[in-house]
Amino acid sequence: MYFHIMTLFPEMVLGGLNESITGKAIEKGLIGVDAVNIRDFAGNRYGHVDDYTYGGGAGMLMQPGPVYDAYQHVLAQIAVRKEKKGTSAQAKKVRVLYMTPQGQPFKQCMAEEYAKEEDLVLLCGHYEGIDERVLEMIVTDYVSIGDFVLTGGELPAMMIVDATSRLVPGVLGSDESAVYESFYDGLLEYPQYTRPEEFMGKKVPEVLLSGHHKNIEEWRYEQSMQRTQERRPDLYEIYVEVHREELEKRR
Ligand code: ADE
Repeated sequence: MYFHIMTLFPEMVLGGLNESITGKAIEKGLIGVDAVNIRDFAGNRYGHVDDYTYGGGAGMLMQPGPVYDAYQHVLAQIAVRKEKKGTSAQAKKVRVLYMTPQGQPFKQCMAEEYAKEEDLVLLCGHYEGIDERVLEMIVTDYVSIGDFVLTGGELPAMMIVDATSRLVPGVLGSDESAVYESFYDGLLEYPQYTRPEEFMGKKVPEVLLSGHHKNIEEWRYEQSMQRTQERRPDLYEIYVEVHREELEKRR
């Protein structure tokens, strides 16, 4: 899977994503991350890509031209790669996500959808945002990572690349990926412990040392339920609603 990040700060995104699990996935060729510098398409020798807003108001806005040209460059790169692979025939419309607090709140199920794409374009705004006309022309999804305002779309883009790439086959070890497929789906994860068995007087719960798999499973499920009810009552309510029948049988 290939991520194309359109940004004014390519080093910021590449620096982060080249580390840890995403870094390893890049090394192994399981994902590709390309950061396209919108400033390279400024069309003036000063590299200016922003200007004042029509109608007045504070702050500067990114101009449509450089964003559009950077997007065309991304499309050309995708076409070249597909041509090389000999898959150019069915050119599918590429998904372009614009990072904005005005977007749809990002959820795990969205990462699952994105992970099905071969190419994903992530557009990062800066200053007061981007001229509306180019957004209308190229954006397919408006995505927010929460109800707060950041200085730019780079951190949100990195989060989406991270959450999506861990769903790409091979990126996580088989042990890790199993977690999401388990029947704990929709609940928060249970507490976990490693060595030492006792830390500053606090012991690892007895059941986890018992080797009794059924009891361990049961304990973890109860912990997941309790934790979700306490910390995320919104998710708990949905879980109870969806699993009503199973829960009644358990009683
Ligand atoms: N850009 C600035 N703030 C953002 C947010 N909360 N989500 C996505 N993109 C953003």
